[in-house]
Amino acid sequence: MPSSASPSSQPTAPTHALPTPFDSASCTLITQGAEAFLYRTSFLPHPSTPSSSAGNCALKHRPSKPYRHAVLDKRLTRARILAEARVLVRCRREGVPVPAVLGLDWEEGWVALEWVEGVTVRRGVDEFVNEGRGEEGEEGLGDRKKEREATLRDLMIRIGRAVGRLHAIDVVHGDLTTSNLMLRPPSSSSGVVRQSGSTSPDASVPITTLAGDIVLIDFGLAAQNALDEDKAVDLYVLERAFGSTHPYAERFLDSMLAGYGDSYKGARVVLRRLEDVRMRGRKKSMLG
Ligand SMILES: Nc1ncnc2c1ncn2[C@@H]1O[C@H](COP(=O)(O)OP(=O)(O)OP(=O)(O)O)[C@@H](O)[C@H]1O
Ligand SMILES: [Mg+2]
Repeated sequence: MPSSASPSSQPTAPTHALPTPFDSASCTLITQGAEAFLYRTSFLPHPSTPSSSAGNCALKHRPSKPYRHAVLDKRLTRARILAEARVLVRCRREGVPVPAVLGLDWEEGWVALEWVEGVTVRRGVDEFVNEGRGEEGEEGLGDRKKEREATLRDLMIRIGRAVGRLHAIDVVHGDLTTSNLMLRPPSSSSGVVRQSGSTSPDASVPITTLAGDIVLIDFGLAAQNALDEDKAVDLYVLERAFGSTHPYAERFLDSMLAGYGDSYKGARVVLRRLEDVRMRGRKKSMLG
């Protein structure tokens, strides 16, 4: 979903009522979409869980909509929160890179997720490409340019593999955009990839590498028991997202598909399906 407060804007104090038991002193608003508010807050583990699990968490709040019928509203919120949490729990169990579910309350309309360090792929690619822009056209920088292209290709391969791991367990994401993919730095001590949303995000440190693991987030529209056709549509949505938000990176989409194609047994069949989906998409856009 498009967010009206982008993750790149400075985190702000919450302006909306927070769900119980959270308070504004401990929550920072990260983004605000049409359906959900995303806060960073701290998670206090239950006495039975290891204290190492204490730390930042992402609080996703789906506030009630006053224009919806109250009973329907509660039912919808509950269904969305449960659906998202169920898919995430299943993904975690099967080793798909997604944040852990730490807790939820459908009456209050929230789910707490493990905080993923790093930046969204959208932000990472944008900043990486902008960083390199000054170098283009300059003499003697041919090798640097090649290096940057290789870095982008490598990222695309990792994205394809991450989506492949999801599809391998017959789950489709339903909203594969570059804002719903996060790039988690290999180790926070390396300090090369800036940590978005850390307690003091340093906006002046440029993103100079796209190293790290891809973590899939935002499973509000995900579905289980997916068919090849659903998986192909998932890939098509991602291709389109790259085309509209990162036209420069669009030329590396073949690497994303190569990473996907090698990631699980049924992937090649899905890639063939993708060609049909693209064809239908083209026909539709020609007809208007
Ligand atoms: N677990 C997390 N760790 C760190 N940042 C997160 C996490 N989950 C979400 N974010 C940040 O918050 C932004 C919005 O989150 P998300 O995509 O889940 O919400 P949304 O698009 O508003 O949701 P929905 O479409 O389900 O209503 C992400 O793009 C990302 O920047
Ligand atoms: Mg999102």
